[in-house]
Amino acid sequence: MSADFVVVANRLPVDRNTDPTTGEVSWTPSPGGLVTALRPVLQANDGAWIGWPGSTSPVTLEDMPSAEESGLHTIPVNLDDEDFEQFYEGFSNATLWPLYHDLIVPPRYERTWWQRYEQVNQRFADTTAAIASEGATVWVQDYQLHLVPGLLRKQRGDICIGFFLHIPFPNAELFRQLPWREEVLQGTLGADVVGFHTQDSARNFLDTLRALGYDVSTDDDEDAAEFINGSRLPEESLIVGRVAVPNAQHSEAGSTRTVRVGVFPISIDSAQVQAQALAPETMAEAHQLRARLGSPKWLLSGVDRMDYTKGILHRLLAVEQLLDSGRLKAEDVVVVQVATPSRERLEEYRATREEVERVVSRINGNYGQLGRPLVHYIHHGLPFEEIVALYATTDIMLVTALKDGMNLVAKEYVASHSDGSGALVLSEFTGAATQLTQAYMCNPHDGESICEAILSATSEDPTAQRQRMLDMWNQVQNNDVDSWAASFLAELKETK
Ligand code: G6P
Repeated sequence: MSADFVVVANRLPVDRNTDPTTGEVSWTPSPGGLVTALRPVLQANDGAWIGWPGSTSPVTLEDMPSAEESGLHTIPVNLDDEDFEQFYEGFSNATLWPLYHDLIVPPRYERTWWQRYEQVNQRFADTTAAIASEGATVWVQDYQLHLVPGLLRKQRGDICIGFFLHIPFPNAELFRQLPWREEVLQGTLGADVVGFHTQDSARNFLDTLRALGYDVSTDDDEDAAEFINGSRLPEESLIVGRVAVPNAQHSEAGSTRTVRVGVFPISIDSAQVQAQALAPETMAEAHQLRARLGSPKWLLSGVDRMDYTKGILHRLLAVEQLLDSGRLKAEDVVVVQVATPSRERLEEYRATREEVERVVSRINGNYGQLGRPLVHYIHHGLPFEEIVALYATTDIMLVTALKDGMNLVAKEYVASHSDGSGALVLSEFTGAATQLTQAYMCNPHDGESICEAILSATSEDPTAQRQRMLDMWNQVQNNDVDSWAASFLAELKETK
C-alpha cells in the first residue's frame, strides 16, 4: 500500500494479545489520546501508522489486524531481543530518558546501544520511505525515533516531515553530555516542523542549537519576545523559532532549508473523558468504590506508570510525613496508588518499585487497621472505565512528577470533574503546570511543599476551590487533543 499521511511511533496503537492456553493471537486497539486524535486524519487521508507491535516475536504485515478491524492501517516494524535490549531498554530508556528528565538517575552512554539505535531508526525510516506516497505528510513521534526525520529526508526529498517530542528536552549544558549530540540534532532537523509541549523545552532546543553554532532566529513580534523572556503562557500553539540548515536536495552551494520550531501542548479527548465520567455506570462505580474504600473524609489518589520520574515515592513520603506529624488523621484519609508496570527489567525501575512498595507497607503497618489499609496499592493496569470512576470519586489527585513532558493524568482528572468538585495537587515540573495554573502547585523535590499543597487542598474555601477546578475544566475543554493535532498539522501543511 501507499499512504498520503503516515504516523511513525515506536509503538503501534494496537496491542497484540496471545491466549496463554490456546496460543491464539488477537489484537485490541490500545487506548490513548494520540490515536483518538489521529484516527480521523488517518482515515481521511489514506493514512497508515508504522510502529513496533510490542513483542519480540516477528510479525508480518499479513499478521496485522485489517483496517476494517482496527480502524486504521498498521504497519509493523519488528524488534528482536537485541533491539529490545539495546535500542528500547538501552539507548531510548537508559540513555535518553534519564538525560531528558534532568538526570533523576544517571544516564548510561554505551556505544553498542547507540549503534543499535541508528540501525533501528534506519529500519523505521526504510519502512516509512516504502509506504509514503509522492508528496506525503509524515509525522514522527518521540525520542525513540530522533534520527528518522534525517534518514527519511535523505531518501525522500518530496515528503513533508514533522517531529514531535513527547518528553522534556533538557537544557544545553545537560544535552552536551550526550556523545552523539550532533547526530541526534541533525536527525531531528531532517523535519520541517519540530514540536515540543512547553516553551522551556523549545527554548532549550534552540539554545542547544545556537551553542553548537546553528543559525537560529526567533520572530521579532510580541509573542516571540514574551517567549524569549519566558513571560508568555503557552495557552495556544506557537512557532517560536526557525533554524536554517543546509539543503542537501538543492545543488546550489549554500542553499538552506528552514526548520520551524514550535510549542504545541498536547491534551486529551476531553469530551470522551467527560462523557465517561458522567455515564450512569461510572457514577455508580465511583459510588461503590468509595464505599469499598471505607467512605473516607479524604480520598487521595495517584495514577502513573511505575517510573522514577513520576515522584510516587515522594508523594507517599509526604503523606507519611503529614500522618507522623498529626497534620492529617489516619481515620480521615485513604490513599489509592495505581502504578502500571513499565520497563521492568531496568534496574532503576526495579529499585523504584521496591522503594515504593516498602513505603506503602510501612504506612499500612503504622496506620492501617485490620480490613482497612491506609494505602491501596495496585501494580497492574485497570480498565479505563475504572480509572475514570476513581478520578470521579477522588477528592485530591496527586500528580507529583519530578519531571514530566505533559502529564495527561492531570488533564483526565480535571475533565472528570465538570461540576467543579475535587482538587489537583500538581508538580510545577510537569508540562501540565503551564496550563492548569489553578492547581495546588508543589515542588516535589521538597517534601514539605507537597505536604503544604495537600493541606491547602483540604482547607481552602469550597467556593474558591470549585472555581479553580472549573477554570481548569474550561482550559481542558477548550484545548483538547484534536486541536493539538490540528495545530501541528496546520503548521506542517504551511511548509509544503
Ligand atoms: C512516555 C513516552 C512514550 C511511551 C510511553 C510508554 O509517555 O513519551 O513514547 O510510549 O511513555 O512507555 P513505553 O516504554 O512502554 O513505550
